[in-house]
Amino acid sequence: PIPDLNTVAFAVEGPAYSSESETHVAYRPQSLYLVGTDGVIAAVLTPDDPQYHAIRAELARLNRLTSLADGQVLLPGFSDLHLHAPQWAQAGAALDEPLERWLGRYTFPTEARFADLAYADRAHRHLVQATLARGTTSVLYYDTIDRAAAVNLAHVCTELGQRGFIGKVVMDDPESNPEYYREDTATALAETERFINEVREFAPDSGLDAAPPIVQPVITPRFIPSCTDAALEGLGELALRYHCFTQSHCSESDWEHHTVFDRYGRSDTEALDMFGLLTDRTVMHHCVYLSESDADLFARRGAAVAHCPLSNAYFANAVAPVRRYRRQGVTVGLGTDISGGYDPSVHAMVRLAAIVSRNLESGVDASREAAERGGVADALVTLDRAFYLATVGGTEALGVRAGRLEAGYAWDVQLIDVHAPGNDLPIFENDEDPAITFQKIMNLSTPANIRAVWVQGRLAHGTLA
Ligand code: GUN
Ligand code: FE
Repeated sequence: PIPDLNTVAFAVEGPAYSSESETHVAYRPQSLYLVGTDGVIAAVLTPDDPQYHAIRAELARLNRLTSLADGQVLLPGFSDLHLHAPQWAQAGAALDEPLERWLGRYTFPTEARFADLAYADRAHRHLVQATLARGTTSVLYYDTIDRAAAVNLAHVCTELGQRGFIGKVVMDDPESNPEYYREDTATALAETERFINEVREFAPDSGLDAAPPIVQPVITPRFIPSCTDAALEGLGELALRYHCFTQSHCSESDWEHHTVFDRYGRSDTEALDMFGLLTDRTVMHHCVYLSESDADLFARRGAAVAHCPLSNAYFANAVAPVRRYRRQGVTVGLGTDISGGYDPSVHAMVRLAAIVSRNLESGVDASREAAERGGVADALVTLDRAFYLATVGGTEALGVRAGRLEAGYAWDVQLIDVHAPGNDLPIFENDEDPAITFQKIMNLSTPANIRAVWVQGRLAHGTLA
């Protein structure tokens, strides 16, 4: 059905890539995307539609049509399921350290600085612009333990137009956290509750499935080792009472995994579940060591995994078996984990998810030697699969109807220019196979190729001119 053109805010005409299935990214040649005033795709028309040309002409007359130039193509925006906003201030630094030392020596001091709100505001703006410019339309953020800083990030996302799922971090255990960067249990819980209410007050729910609030509060115990049982219990109760998203680090490194096992005699997954922190509104980060039964529990609860291939190389020295998690029915998306990973680009995570999976796989050349190296069969993440994680997987994890260029999905989109002046991709034939061009875009593009980014129909980065 063709929508009433009065409700069409704008239309974009051009080719696009979008996941057709988990294993296949489809190329759709020239189409007309009608975007409603609610920021949702109202209709997608192809030139063989009898009304295509009349509607196109009318939208052009109304000055609401953008036609893409040669070499330009639309992709869904990417979701980053794990990013520590305050750590942007140390991205790239100190990655030769193991997790425990990296946290105490570098990360906690970096985060504590965000109690200075003017500084926090500057850093938050810089980060949100940097990630939007890399095609990231939704981000699941940790901020710091400071409620006011986390509220500032919510305001910055709202103003700059990025979907932000934002956590005020909880760290209350005096045994494991420095005096200068922790709260007592009662304060941590009260501040979390106040944070939920403050964010929900300025970003109320529209009631529209495809247009959820642009920012949402997330209950965020940093990880089990930084929290007391009382805090974890209290946060589980808040999650239930407020029907909030929850996030934490789960089975991230040997050290962390064993610390939790020593404390409870069970895995991270089981412990988080025991506290009511594993729900269908949960994203857990890393999940490098989930057993079959852990992953089953994720699937049963409807909880999602943020696969962070770069960070896992540093802090886990390991590759998360995400193909197995998918086979077990777990929702999986990608995360940069700034600054456990140094790269703010989800495009880079797509490449890395593919690259690191090759170090897990045993069966690429079916050699016995590969299996003997400890490889796993059916572990490969192709570019098409990685793209699915960055688009469909990420938005499913966050409960956002976006990540596909289909009617009824939010217009969260990145416009790629393969011949950008700052990075002209090696495409020399006009009739190159679009599947090959897609692979070049995924492997070779830089922020220079991302010409414009929209979130919920609003232009949040770049220009169309
Ligand atoms: N585990 C606990 N805190 C952190 C953090 O800030 N980054 C990462 N990568 N892992 C963590
Ligand atoms: Fe992290």
